[in-house]
Amino acid sequence: MSATAVHFPAGSLRFWQTTVGKKAIMALTGVVLVGFVIAHLLGNLQIYESPEKLNRYSEMLHSMPALLWGARITLLVSALLHIWSSWQLWLLQRAARPIGYVKKVNAHSTYASRTMVWSGPIILAFVIFHLLHFTFGTVHPGGAFIEHDVYHNVVTGFQFWPVSLFYIIAMIMLCYHLYHGLWSMCQTLGISHPVYTPILRTLAKLVAILIAAGNISIPVAVMAGFIKPV
Ligand code: HEM
Repeated sequence: MSATAVHFPAGSLRFWQTTVGKKAIMALTGVVLVGFVIAHLLGNLQIYESPEKLNRYSEMLHSMPALLWGARITLLVSALLHIWSSWQLWLLQRAARPIGYVKKVNAHSTYASRTMVWSGPIILAFVIFHLLHFTFGTVHPGGAFIEHDVYHNVVTGFQFWPVSLFYIIAMIMLCYHLYHGLWSMCQTLGISHPVYTPILRTLAKLVAILIAAGNISIPVAVMAGFIKPV
């Protein structure tokens, strides 16, 4: 019996109410979110060029309010739909197997797929903290938060090692989440080929590792004294 048949009589389902529909929403919103994470990383890596470069980049984004708010709303809607569809899929999966396994067998799941249940909430907690830390400046231990001085905020923020450690752990979670998410997306799209499937799996791993490594490099560079306050 399919997971959807548990809840809805066949024929009365809208696309977004089906398992396939929910997976498609997950995949589509996942693309938007990964796109943001890559663009955000490329912007943040300008910290290695100069303090002025990073601050000018932030200034440029804030000087286009229509574009900025358009992107923020798209991002927020995508994040909410991503969380909603994952929650719905989890409920359907649970309803399809109310008793549970006597002994958990992990033969067909990877470590990354098994960590999805808690890597998602950790990333959500990270994003909430991150906004308070670098966007609103409400929580900024280690130094004063100066509005529009992004370089200063990032450097003083990461000089406080417990915060850096939290970022590093969150980025490792993000790596597992992205790897499994990118890979699941290929499966939702029905990509299955004896030659291309293993290549796609390796590519998903590579993208996830590069994103996490790029992000982790920033708190590590600050703590190592490679990126200094001005
Ligand atoms: C070490 C890695 C990261 C650094 C140094 C960093 C840095 C920053 C900074 C400085 C801002 C404020 C920018 C400004 O006000 O102009 C910001 C905003 C933000 N960051 Fe990050 N970020 C990192 C990783 C991430 C990750 C992994 C995510 C998502 C999973 C993320 C999501 C966001 C969001 C949603 C905003 C708010 C953007 C807006 O103003 O609308 N960041 N980040």
